Amino acid sequence: MKAVVYDKFGPPDVLEFKDVDKPTPKDNEILLKVHATSVNAIDMIFRSGASLLFGFTKVMAGFRKPKVNILGFDASGEVDSVGNKVTKFKKGDLVYGAAMLPGGNAEYYRIAEERAALKPANMTHIEAAAVPDAACVAYSALIDKVSIQEGQKVLIYGASGGVGTFAIQVARLFTTEVTAVCSTDKISNAKELGAKEIIDYTQENFTTNGQVYDIIFDAVGRKKITYKDCKKSLTKKGIYITVDLEAVLFKYMFNKRVIGIFAPVNTQILDFLREQIEARKIKSIVEKTFPLSQTADAHRYYEKGHLKGKVVISVINNN
Ligand SMILES: NC(=O)c1ccc[n+]([C@@H]2O[C@H](COP(=O)([O-])OP(=O)(O)OC[C@H]3O[C@@H](n4cnc5c(N)ncnc54)[C@H](OP(=O)(O)O)[C@@H]3O)[C@@H](O)[C@H]2O)c1
Repeated sequence: MKAVVYDKFGPPDVLEFKDVDKPTPKDNEILLKVHATSVNAIDMIFRSGASLLFGFTKVMAGFRKPKVNILGFDASGEVDSVGNKVTKFKKGDLVYGAAMLPGGNAEYYRIAEERAALKPANMTHIEAAAVPDAACVAYSALIDKVSIQEGQKVLIYGASGGVGTFAIQVARLFTTEVTAVCSTDKISNAKELGAKEIIDYTQENFTTNGQVYDIIFDAVGRKKITYKDCKKSLTKKGIYITVDLEAVLFKYMFNKRVIGIFAPVNTQILDFLREQIEARKIKSIVEKTFPLSQTADAHRYYEKGHLKGKVVISVINNN
């Protein structure tokens, strides 16, 4: 099969488009004929060999050289075959999901069945491949960890990126009081996704404007903002939740108002998301699509940052 392979850590140039053996699914896995796969921050971490989460990412990605040679976690496609113990899926099912270890930048990809679900019927594979990782983060933060309630005031910091665009929509399932923080050219997008208030961070600092929120979700990470910055912008019982688990893990262990997440992908969340997508309450924003052979360019594009939604890699035509 065709795949994008890397044998050493480094910049996007390490990615090579070549022929490799088609994988065989294990007992609990489905083998997906990949139609589309999307680019996430975790792909950059695996590709560069960065040590994050106190070395955990090296344990996953490899210490001296890559443990797994194909990147890509998110995927949408068609079930090609299933392992002996798979009960939920059969050959031909259209499925989306993300495995624990990457492999989606290829024509075929193994995913454990508990990390996949039937693809939303009203989405193309390109749109569906944009969902798993980013939308599961939004679900995990707002529903699983902070149990967002009807009418709460929620601020999404980084509302225009992969995670942020889903976070606005997940918050809107519960409350109309959603404030999006983004840069100037993303304002109309945040409005269209349902944000009531928009703060352009290039013009206004939300931490000094006197407003308070029940939930502040930092969907940017990389310490662009901290709990300390946000403290005065939280209500008395307000919660600060961040995608940057490393920034808060030990520091705020006993502070229930500070949460860092390491988001899971599983069938239950993907099923929930599919229902919302089919009810037209959640959609994907895809900024740009690249063919599989240009995966290195997709990584370069992602790394420029300031994205509107997701970067997706199309593996076969007619998605
Ligand atoms: N913990 C987990 O389980 C988990 C899982 C997935 C991802 N993540 C993390 O989540 C973060 C977001 O991922 P993503 O894929 O959504 O990234 P992304 O698509 O690149 O989005 C990041 C957004 O951050 C905004 N931004 C950049 N600089 C900013 C600043 N100084 N102030 C405010 N906003 C700024 C950008 O918006 P503008 O264009 O408007 O500037 C951009 O759209 C990453 O740090 C990633 O590592 C964590």
